[in-house]
Amino acid sequence: MLNLVLLGPPGAGKGTQAQKIAKHYGIPHISTGNIFREAISNKTPLGQIAARYINDGNLVPDDVTIGLVKERLSEADTSNGYLLDGFPRTLPQAKALQEIGDELNKPIAAVINIAASTDELVTRISGRRVCSNCGAPYHIETLKPRVAGVCDICDGELIQRLDDTAEAFKTRLAVYTKDSAPLEDYYEDTGLLINVNGLLSIDQLFSEIIALLDEVNE
Ligand code: AP5
Ligand code: MG
Repeated sequence: MLNLVLLGPPGAGKGTQAQKIAKHYGIPHISTGNIFREAISNKTPLGQIAARYINDGNLVPDDVTIGLVKERLSEADTSNGYLLDGFPRTLPQAKALQEIGDELNKPIAAVINIAASTDELVTRISGRRVCSNCGAPYHIETLKPRVAGVCDICDGELIQRLDDTAEAFKTRLAVYTKDSAPLEDYYEDTGLLINVNGLLSIDQLFSEIIALLDEVNE
């Protein structure tokens, strides 16, 4: 059982690595951001709540997000492990995850923290395109799809995220610094934190993460 968390600022490469790590170990990739965006596009009650926060770059309230993750981690496909991307993002979420892990007997094995400079984050976010269907990330310079505007994985249409504007990105980075960066110390204290260099190429970083996780998974 390999239960993992990915931490890192907006644009660090969490989604990009999560997709590859989840495939490598055969565990579900659970992105709270993707779940919220899907709910918004399907106009569900959850989507109506999320839309009030997400497009401006603010966090969806803890009670909504924690309830959602608890339900998701109760599903059968997480019995061999899971990879959380974008959760937890606040101390109350981290504490709730600890409780959920204990209750479901699915405790976290490692927290991978991807770091990158602000300049690089801006370059990545401004050039990012995502699949409107499955959420897979691309980049106009560094990660082009095989066919322009079309997702390699599911043939969905590639679009720009509404929170990838300069203004919303500024808010997301400020929210990250205030609410999410303290989780680095929280997980350092629990001995679960693994720091990695997000400035490496996508493939180099993936190899490094797998080497580190194989040690955890022994
Ligand atoms: P979420 O969807 O999680 O967004 P985020 O944390 O801001 O992170 P991003 O998805 O923008 O970046 P990423 O690290 O995944 O980078 P990516 O791999 O795409 O959350 C969005 C919103 O949902 C939040 O603001 C909030 O409103 C809400 N929400 C979600 N979770 C919540 C929670 N727990 N509580 C409350 N609210 C929550 O890569 C970025 C780009 O860089 C891509 O173009 C990619 O191709 C490129 N790239 C990636 N890696 C590399 C590399 N190594 N070298 C070169 N380019 C690279
Ligand atoms: Mg992401």
